[in-house]
Amino acid sequence: MMQYRKATMADVPAIHQLIQHWANQGVMLRRPAMRIYEAARDFVVAVDDTTGELAGVGGLHIMGQDLAEIRSLAVQPGRVGGGVGRGLVEQLMLDAADIGLQRVFALTYQQKFFERAGFLVVTKDSLPQKVWTECVYCDKFDHCEEIAVVRWVDPAHPDAPVVDEIPLIEKPHWGK
Ligand SMILES: CC(C)(COP(=O)(O)OP(=O)(O)OC[C@H]1O[C@@H](n2cnc3c(N)ncnc32)[C@H](O)[C@@H]1OP(=O)(O)O)[C@@H](O)C(=O)NCCC(=O)NCCS
Repeated sequence: MMQYRKATMADVPAIHQLIQHWANQGVMLRRPAMRIYEAARDFVVAVDDTTGELAGVGGLHIMGQDLAEIRSLAVQPGRVGGGVGRGLVEQLMLDAADIGLQRVFALTYQQKFFERAGFLVVTKDSLPQKVWTECVYCDKFDHCEEIAVVRWVDPAHPDAPVVDEIPLIEKPHWGK
């Protein structure tokens, strides 16, 4: 049975190793172990409760008042296609609902996977500029081919399919 739960600090070495594996294949962003520790509360893990093995990981990073990003979604190579990725996404969507977020997006090469999970492809410039801050860590900074996908947390949201109406997050007021 697959167990989905919040990550703990003890999970971080295995999470790091899994992300490294896929980063080495060029399909996801590298993440130094220290940055995973710092963001540990963002992550959920899928754990095989018979072997205790980490089967997959995914992070939900809040980007603003109503928007969060799915980051570092990765399934062990031997378990790809077994439903773990979808399970992680659903867990992250529940987390997003719990905290009162409205929309979740991802930047990805895995368009079909996200479409199967109820995400819509949107234009990249419909997302706030702030979402590109991570891009400086990417080898493909100047030749990015990722697509942007968005899913409303509430599937009954009247605006759910309206993908080009994503408002920019209000800019912070820095004083005079
Ligand atoms: C992308 C990834 C997270 C998907 O997880 P997974 O456990 O393999 O996917 P699932 O088995 O949950 O698939 C769910 C659905 O998406 C479909 N799907 C998954 N990957 C797909 C792909 N590459 N192409 C087409 N369909 C795909 C599945 O067929 C399944 O469809 P169904 O609803 O008809 O059954 C996983 O393959 C992975 O870790 N890949 C490498 C890292 C990566 O690319 N991460 C994404 C970063 S944003």
